[in-house]
Amino acid sequence: MIRRLFCFLLITLSVNTFAQTNTKVTPEQQKKMDTFVTNLMSKMTLDEKIGQLNLVSVGFDVTGPIVSKNVNENIEKGNVGGVFNTYTPDAVRKLQDIAVKHSRLKIPLIFGYDVIHGHKTIFPIPLALASSWDLGMIKNSASIAAAEASADGLNWVFSPMVDIARDPRWGRIAEGAGEDTWLGSQIAKAMVEGYQGTSYDTNKVMTCVKHFALYGAVEAGRDYNTVDMSDRRMMGEYLPPYKAAIDAGAGSVMSSFNEINGVPSTGNKWLMTDLLRKQWGFTGFVATDYTAIDEMIPHGMGKTQADVAKVAIDAGTDMDMVSEAYLNNLKKLVKDGKVPMAEVDASCRRVLEAKYKLGLFADPYRYCNDQRAEKTIMKPAYLEAALEAAKRSIVLLKNSNNVLPLKMSGSIALIGPLADDSRDMIGPWSGAGDWEKSVSVIQGIKQLAGNQVKINYARGANILTDTGMIGRLDQPQGTLTIDKRPSAEMIDEAVRAAKNSDVIVAVVGESAGMTGEAASRSNIGLPGDQEDLLKALKATGKPMVVVLMNGRPLTLTWENDNANGILETWFAGTEAGNAIADILFGAYNPSAKITATFPQNVGQLPLYYSHKNTGRPYVGDFLERYKSRYLDVSNDPLYPFGYGLSYTTFNYGDVMLSSSTIKPGQLLHITTKITNTGKYDGEEVVQLYTRQMVGSVTRPVEELKNFKKIFLKAGESQDVTFIISSNDLRFYDINMKYTYEPGDFKVFVGTNSRDVKEADFKLTK
Ligand code: NOJ
Repeated sequence: MIRRLFCFLLITLSVNTFAQTNTKVTPEQQKKMDTFVTNLMSKMTLDEKIGQLNLVSVGFDVTGPIVSKNVNENIEKGNVGGVFNTYTPDAVRKLQDIAVKHSRLKIPLIFGYDVIHGHKTIFPIPLALASSWDLGMIKNSASIAAAEASADGLNWVFSPMVDIARDPRWGRIAEGAGEDTWLGSQIAKAMVEGYQGTSYDTNKVMTCVKHFALYGAVEAGRDYNTVDMSDRRMMGEYLPPYKAAIDAGAGSVMSSFNEINGVPSTGNKWLMTDLLRKQWGFTGFVATDYTAIDEMIPHGMGKTQADVAKVAIDAGTDMDMVSEAYLNNLKKLVKDGKVPMAEVDASCRRVLEAKYKLGLFADPYRYCNDQRAEKTIMKPAYLEAALEAAKRSIVLLKNSNNVLPLKMSGSIALIGPLADDSRDMIGPWSGAGDWEKSVSVIQGIKQLAGNQVKINYARGANILTDTGMIGRLDQPQGTLTIDKRPSAEMIDEAVRAAKNSDVIVAVVGESAGMTGEAASRSNIGLPGDQEDLLKALKATGKPMVVVLMNGRPLTLTWENDNANGILETWFAGTEAGNAIADILFGAYNPSAKITATFPQNVGQLPLYYSHKNTGRPYVGDFLERYKSRYLDVSNDPLYPFGYGLSYTTFNYGDVMLSSSTIKPGQLLHITTKITNTGKYDGEEVVQLYTRQMVGSVTRPVEELKNFKKIFLKAGESQDVTFIISSNDLRFYDINMKYTYEPGDFKVFVGTNSRDVKEADFKLTK
């Protein structure tokens, strides 16, 4: 007992946290940390070191196929380094108590959770937040998520998810920033900065960047599937967002489920050690994804758990999420001389360093404060921020004859399975989110319009009719409300409501559980009989506005041809209903733009704006046969990357260049006059793209290089200037060198990736 007490005192007294300094470690801090960790490790047995590498799931949520067992007992034995799926100061304190009062060395636990788009106050899903093109707002949403999560006992979040995704069949496209490398990298940085701040203060958390790597490129958009990719595409298009997060100081990384060119990420030494640590200089720790070590058995990387545990630790993967493969096998592997002790030491050190950086050795309970939780969680300022974020994330896809905004008078047929649904609209990965406090569309409209507008509500349809799919989704994240009436009866009721109203607002889409993990779809149209419902509504001849809730680009050709207005609201979070009402009635003028291409049909996938030209580019002549095209559909997207409308209109002037040639290192100024030519004040996302016409390797037809989001009053003009240099034109050349090449370039400025004005310049030697 006396020895135990002494150890605890030793740990607490000699510790010096980074709490008031910086998440990036200075040499002096590094020295102090080294001394502390070395001293602690000198007291640790091999079992205790391995225990630090064990991450267990216990508590309120189940986010994988199995749950951890004997958790309390294992914590007491020193067999656990971290816990996830547990939060609230009380629940965390109970487990931390076991670690710091009853385990031999009293090493505190780290507490992680999937805080993906808010903790209790739920922000729009990441794909929606990206559509705002508002980096400051995105950073603030992460900062609020960190404040709430840390007030709720957590100190580690499994976010940001920075996987580039170009195939909307993949349900996890909802969790990231979309298809673009440059924008994805900016957002990755903003989120890490928002969560971690400049110091690991008590209202900040450590990030875990995921899913390393290339998870968004799984074949056919099927979750957990294979990735096989050229080095050039990997380095140039898919890896930069992870690198941006790491450069921003991300404290940890999560391995992805997929293999990369034959080797699963979790056991991929090239990825975890050569690239991540040696080339990129990452000094934090790597945790696996859920049971990813065990999953290397079906991947074919070993026959036994011991085999795959060795593959993972040899690769440089530090912490084992739920498999307990390290716990069960590492000791023997070390004793048998199959795994060097140095590998276990290195991994243990990295995990202890993370705890040290978070200040957990100084105060294991620094995130457990009930009063703080009460004062912080869902406070009015956070709800206000969530409302603002929702408004800024909603994209106006169609608005013919200015059907929107609606008049604040007359009657509205409010139809659809998502019109009175406050659960689905907080979206996937909102485990701690209190959906009972979220505002549905019907509530939002009633709150805003009061008695001025008559609402005729009818559900009209269920989200899904496929019983197999309903069964699969009937789990916590996707709990579905099913109206048992026959479809025809529900549709008839909706049609009657429509006939008695001036305008139809149909709120349709996916359930939250149809997106996120394990939610790939092969058909990405509106599910169930929702399209039949829309067709029946359309037949009434009343103007129809479709309000979509969904987590991926959908195929919407019928809707685009037939609805008068389309509002893509994604899953907009706690305040969705208020935000949607504000936009429907014009209290807010939409300004968001999609960051993932909407295809015409599934057969076009993957579809993305920064594609190559090919040797036989199709330029839109329908009769041309021997071109890179389909016989039955054009190559065009339904809505291109960067697309989104406003209640006002913007005119783009010609693109003016400061010079028609630049030398390496010189700056090129690109200026365009933007004029608000409509009747509303509004914001516009002015986008800059370039194209290198000839290279040592073929180059994309367009690449986003920058953007500016500007506000213009009705009638107002502004010159928008971008500055680029040769550095912005770098890519991986024929020798895989990251460099620029002299030659001809085009520069495009526009309101989306398709509707642009262009100019030419030359980069000379
Ligand atoms: C599996 C998911 O792939 C990952 O994103 C998540 O963080 C973990 N489960 C933990 O819930």
